[in-house]
Amino acid sequence: MNNKDLTIEQICMHLGECAMDHKGAVVTPIYQTSSYHLDSDYEYSRGPAPNFEVVEKKVAALDGGEGAVMVGSGVAAAASIFMATLKAGDHVIMVQSAYVNSRKCLMHLENFGVSYTLVHGKDIAEFEQAIRPNTKLIFIESPTSFVCELQDIPAVCQLAHSKGILVAIDNTCACIFQKPMDMGVDIVMYSASKYLGGHADIIGGIVVANGAILAKLRELRIIFGWVSTPFNAWLVQRGMRTLKMRLMKIQENSFAVAKLLNEHPCIEKLYHPAADDYDQKDLFKKQMTGFGGMFSFKAKDAKEEDYENFVHRCKIFQHAVSWGGHESLVYSIGAGGSIADELLRRSVHGGILRVYTGLEDTNDLLNDMEYALEAFKK
Ligand SMILES: Cc1ncc(COP(=O)(O)O)c(C=O)c1O
Repeated sequence: MNNKDLTIEQICMHLGECAMDHKGAVVTPIYQTSSYHLDSDYEYSRGPAPNFEVVEKKVAALDGGEGAVMVGSGVAAAASIFMATLKAGDHVIMVQSAYVNSRKCLMHLENFGVSYTLVHGKDIAEFEQAIRPNTKLIFIESPTSFVCELQDIPAVCQLAHSKGILVAIDNTCACIFQKPMDMGVDIVMYSASKYLGGHADIIGGIVVANGAILAKLRELRIIFGWVSTPFNAWLVQRGMRTLKMRLMKIQENSFAVAKLLNEHPCIEKLYHPAADDYDQKDLFKKQMTGFGGMFSFKAKDAKEEDYENFVHRCKIFQHAVSWGGHESLVYSIGAGGSIADELLRRSVHGGILRVYTGLEDTNDLLNDMEYALEAFKK
């Protein structure tokens, strides 16, 4: 059967695994070894290795790519895309509110002769105006992880390809709710630390690509050494078995909490597709089949101490960074005004309260949120 005909469940639970390859073990075991007998298919765990391959086959199949490369983190995935596609003298266009360290990674490449232009990304004309004769890559992240802004993926790809430019996307937030390669994207990356791992216990990254870029990504993992570990790969392999079920529950919780916030008198602005004033509803419906658990809001006339009070009133939503695991989170990003990084301040519209809904009982989350929101009552 062609991988394209497999359901998400078949891919996540079974693809790339065969018990009889592992002495009958129905779960592919952890290959905790650095070296392999040279008569085998493997050599050294900085290169291809069985636990990486299981994850790579699954993620490549989910995206419809020829193959994937698992690396040590999401930012290593972004770094490997830059290193595989760019050289000194090249120019990159990136959406300004892409994950902050992916953006900083690109900015660091200025030291090596790579220039960049940051665009807001909602209007295709911005991409058009930013293109230079030496533009080689457009790096998008849709939706962006803080304020749920989308780029028109087919339009960006059409424009880029008409000028011979590659398009890469950070698809971490959308995950199974969006298939970028079907819309023309050349390279797809994930932080596996989020939904793919799914239990807030690993750091990992994956890049899906085709042809020469895929070969280059594989080579670069060996020569730069931004490798993952067999145990982390095994945890992603395990996490992926429940990926779809988790995302459906996360989505249910996300829409329930967003509905509460949308109608709440203390909320000034909700950044979620369910918000009444969400201005990209048509694009959302066109290119996504659902929405995960990460979104944000601004409270009316709130001060720094109100946001602090809010996060400390939460009993189930934990006050912590990251997202994509089983546990619901809240995180104040410059909410109340204090934020050092000017670009980050702009990309989070001055400051926001980021919410991530995990897998807890929906009513527990609603009750917790309702209680915490009292912090904003005047
Ligand atoms: C959207 C997005 N992309 C990439 C990353 C980076 O991933 P990692 O933390 O695995 O390096 C993050 C992480 O926090 C993220 O939220």
